[in-house]
Amino acid sequence: MSKDADSQDDAVERSLRPHQLSDYIGQTAVKSQLEVYIKAALKREEAMDHVLLYGPPGLGKTTLALVIANELGVHIRTTSGPAIEKPGDLVALLNELQPGDVLFIDEIHRLPKIVEEMLYSAMEDFYIDIVVGEGPTAHPVHFPLPPFTLIGATTRAGMLSAPLRDRFGITEHMAYYNEDELKQIVLRSAGIFNMAVPDSAALEVARRSRGTPRIANRLLRRIRDFAEVEGTELSVRLVDHALDQLQVDDRGLDAIDRKLLMMMIRDYDGGPVGLNTIAANIGEETATIEEMYEPYLLQIGYLKRTPRGRMVTRAGYQHLNIPFTEH
Ligand SMILES: Nc1ncnc2c1ncn2[C@@H]1O[C@H](COP(=O)(O)OP(=O)(O)OP(=O)(O)O)[C@@H](O)[C@H]1O
Ligand SMILES: [Mg+2]
Repeated sequence: MSKDADSQDDAVERSLRPHQLSDYIGQTAVKSQLEVYIKAALKREEAMDHVLLYGPPGLGKTTLALVIANELGVHIRTTSGPAIEKPGDLVALLNELQPGDVLFIDEIHRLPKIVEEMLYSAMEDFYIDIVVGEGPTAHPVHFPLPPFTLIGATTRAGMLSAPLRDRFGITEHMAYYNEDELKQIVLRSAGIFNMAVPDSAALEVARRSRGTPRIANRLLRRIRDFAEVEGTELSVRLVDHALDQLQVDDRGLDAIDRKLLMMMIRDYDGGPVGLNTIAANIGEETATIEEMYEPYLLQIGYLKRTPRGRMVTRAGYQHLNIPFTEH
């Protein structure tokens, strides 16, 4: 995809973001807890405790961070782990915060160690100690900060160091969405696009979105393209047709998911296969497999983890219409 199409997609994605907790569909457990913490912080007129959001990509972590800041009525500064290269970058960000503001750090597992260590005192006691100057003129400066809320997001909670993880008072796990929730998201987005989408077609998109709002919104946009070009109404048939063209199958698996399962069956008799071997064989990064492909295949029970590697399950074989061999 070209850079232009990418940034256009980003702009559309932003336009689809809910702004309030009440517009944020699904994640009911997470929402009801956050509602309490937000209300309590507002009542005490204090910064809300730090929040760690973790879960697979596209489930609404960034959106939720924006919603939290909005509900708290504070500003939000957004950045990401790899963007904060040195302590000075962190100081600059923290320096701009007003009391109660939210600092959102996406991909927080990718913070450089030296920056992470500075965050400890910032999170716990709202100060940082920095060394200013070099050589003989170097001297420590104690830098007090306004109370603020750090919201960290990660797809890899396991990669966070214990000291950092422990400094989040609130930890929320984002789960895959069910079909009904995704259907509501599709209908909501269709409303924003001014598209008439029958319930049955919305449900079909939902069923093929891998439990992920970002994918549901993407598929909806592609289907809109098909409807426009072919001059047809949006229907289950059109959804089927469009998704076939996009090689998204009836369970929402795409070409890479199928390639992965197929390769494991064909070359490794269904496994067990190590993650690195899988990645090398299908030409994707190990992290991409681990964060984007594997979690959903595990969730729907097509793959399982064993101490010796990943294995394709009976359901996985069935999905590909290949007779299952016991091993
Ligand atoms: N609960 C929700 N209700 C409605 N729309 C949602 C919801 N969650 C996410 N979306 C939509 O899905 C898209 C992706 O959400 P978002 O960017 O917040 O995901 P993310 O978890 O931050 O992903 P990543 O891990 O890739 O950063 C957004 O366009 C947003 O509009
Ligand atoms: Mg995000």
